[in-house]
Amino acid sequence: MIPMIDIKKQFEEIKDEIFEMLSGILDSSQYILGPRVRELEKNIAEYHGVPAAAGVASGTDALHLALQALGIGKGDEVITTPFTFFATAEAILYTGATPVFADIEHDTMNIDPTKIEEKITEKTRAILPVHIFGHPADMVKIADIAQKYNLRIIEDCAQSFGAAIDEKKTGSFGDAGCYSFYPSKNLGAFGDGGMIIVNDPSVDDRIRSLRNHGSRQAYRHESIGFNSRLDEIQAGMLLVKFKRIDTYNAKRRQKAALYNELISDEILKPADRTGITHVYHQYTIRSAKRDEIQKRLRDSSISSVVYYPIPLHLQEAVGFLGYKKGDFPVAEEAAEKVLSLPIYPELEETSIKEIVDIINNG
Ligand SMILES: Cc1ncc(COP(=O)(O)O)c(C=O)c1O
Repeated sequence: MIPMIDIKKQFEEIKDEIFEMLSGILDSSQYILGPRVRELEKNIAEYHGVPAAAGVASGTDALHLALQALGIGKGDEVITTPFTFFATAEAILYTGATPVFADIEHDTMNIDPTKIEEKITEKTRAILPVHIFGHPADMVKIADIAQKYNLRIIEDCAQSFGAAIDEKKTGSFGDAGCYSFYPSKNLGAFGDGGMIIVNDPSVDDRIRSLRNHGSRQAYRHESIGFNSRLDEIQAGMLLVKFKRIDTYNAKRRQKAALYNELISDEILKPADRTGITHVYHQYTIRSAKRDEIQKRLRDSSISSVVYYPIPLHLQEAVGFLGYKKGDFPVAEEAAEKVLSLPIYPELEETSIKEIVDIINNG
């Protein structure tokens, strides 16, 4: 059996440090927004070269609070990709704003900058690119458009911790970079968690208030906020893993390189553009024979997952937005052909060879 990700293996390697951290936190009796959250925020802000970072309860909340702190709400439009996890659009809808989709690039499967301008109206307030599967979106072109039309940029970095364009980390290009620490993410907690990094300390200040019931000072509430705090236990565990994140990501890239070398050229392999650091949250191939390949893998007890079978514009929940099949052909084709293969730092070379043998010899 080869799983998509082996969290247990990673845990075994860091078990002693995790238990030591845990025991320190339990002894301290300080569980919410304490010193470990502050240390993690400081480390993650420094890692990205930005002035501030705020821990929140999930990646979904990170997007929601970032949008709200940037003043996006009812009547506004936010341009985003239809090829992402549903939370990206949900967060926009939570604020009362409307997600407006623009099709994706064929190679990276990220939002296509050349399709953004035609979607801009007088209601557009922001662009929300997602660095899908760990390959950065084209932030240079997106930033140019945002500047031209005076739009905000909120980056969905749930899948891209450590990814970069010319050494500049994703999340640091726009007004806010939103992270998820869902356990299977490149930097994964032992439960839910998220973080928002920002370039403007006043936005960080608003996020800190919003995450804590609209309060900066105990029992004084200046706005209607949320309970969306990162807890000390998750932050402590994340501190242990954060020290290793560059090694984890380098190992993911090594595994991806081996897949690239071994998989037949009849299969479309993931884009990895020059000058970028892809962190391979997923290693995603595309083939018209996707379902057949997946069945062969399943028959050999090898996991694989279709991320994502239905693009967001065709999801039942957002039927009221009025999109239809054919609106975003590149995203729709991707949804029909994608297949993500097992990838994680501890994945054995022999497992990759076994997986590729099954893919190539159909
Ligand atoms: C692209 C993307 N955006 C947002 C999220 C939401 O993150 P979370 O599950 O931490 O709320 C996820 C992860 O699940 C994701 O993959």
